[in-house]
Amino acid sequence: MFESLTRVPPDPILGVSAAFQKDPSTDKVDLGVGVYKDEAGKTPVPRAVRRAEQDLIAAQTTKAYLSPVGNPGFNTQVAALTFGVDLAGRKADLSLAQAPGGSGALHLGALFLAAARAGSIAYVSDPTWANHLPLLGAAGLKVERYPYYDAHTNGLAFDRMLGFLDALPADSVVVLHACCHNPTGQDLDVAQWQAVAEVLAKRRLLPFVDMAYQGLGEDLDRDAASIRLIAKAVPEMLVAVSCSKNFGVYRERTGLLAVVSANTEQASIHAGQLGRIARTVWSMPPDHGAAVVDRVLATPELRQEWVTELTHMANRINSLRSLLAEKLTTASGADFGWIKQQRGMFSRLPLRAEQVVTLREQHHIYMAPDGRINIAGISPANCTRVAESIATVMKAG
Ligand SMILES: Cc1ncc(COP(=O)(O)O)c(C=O)c1O
Repeated sequence: MFESLTRVPPDPILGVSAAFQKDPSTDKVDLGVGVYKDEAGKTPVPRAVRRAEQDLIAAQTTKAYLSPVGNPGFNTQVAALTFGVDLAGRKADLSLAQAPGGSGALHLGALFLAAARAGSIAYVSDPTWANHLPLLGAAGLKVERYPYYDAHTNGLAFDRMLGFLDALPADSVVVLHACCHNPTGQDLDVAQWQAVAEVLAKRRLLPFVDMAYQGLGEDLDRDAASIRLIAKAVPEMLVAVSCSKNFGVYRERTGLLAVVSANTEQASIHAGQLGRIARTVWSMPPDHGAAVVDRVLATPELRQEWVTELTHMANRINSLRSLLAEKLTTASGADFGWIKQQRGMFSRLPLRAEQVVTLREQHHIYMAPDGRINIAGISPANCTRVAESIATVMKAG
């Protein structure tokens, strides 16, 4: 019966982590894995999250089911964090469903889109987070790419992106990274988002915005500006939110899908559809992470503490960006100032796959095969060595 199943090729990023673990070098540096790391190289549980967990465990009297769309407190708190306290003026058009992580939210959104219109095509940025393809594709959407990044300039291919979107047929789904683009770190500025929002509205395209790093780029509001201005420009959109990185609750699987509908009547239909689809895939989402996030956001003291910790994370990443840009420029003689302009945990170095292997084998520096690095994996102590190793490998050609 099962003989027809073929071996799954190894996941390239997980393979990098496994090789890193095995390397006995004391100088090794892991820039591969996509989790935040602090000064000590650890992925911490924020203090506000730990305190909320302790409070919850002390107070919890039941673990009875909630509902297929999860914890209503979490859903409304995260929606306000995402769309702003005024919910971008779309309160009556919103339907919300808690989901297992941003990945669960993306898949639920894709299933919702496939139910609404079989055969829909979702356009993702070139490049994009590798998991977008299976998460959307497994729901039945056809996945294509739109131009996004120019590897020659290490910057945005904005004119090509806008021109491409402006030629898409109505109802095409356009997947956008709200902030901290993975894998390039290259975001749009507000004027560029405004231009994209206008094209989305004019061409009647369906934006599906993925926000996995709110607060890790600039700050909570600026990182969500894209979503808020698109929500004001178009009648319908989807937003998938992940709390994994900004709350440090990765393995608790905590996310939200928000559907913005054209009117209140449609929203009530869509809310029922989200519950129905969730029931067929996970029935009920996991509770703990969402209960913790709800408690942090609803308790002013914990919320303040969390914002302070998140600001520290973003500041650390941005100062490492400046340091790496400076060290790489000095070591290579080429201009790496673009690393400083980018945002979030990732940038993509202009390296070929063989150069990535050389860095791993000869310099004990580990990164994704496409040259994606996790900036948070760098520290002021190892930055010079990392930059000099990269420059050496680049100069060798
Ligand atoms: C762009 C992007 N979207 C969504 C996610 C989903 O994260 P999770 O499912 O762990 O919440 C990630 C995680 O790496 C991501 O990078």
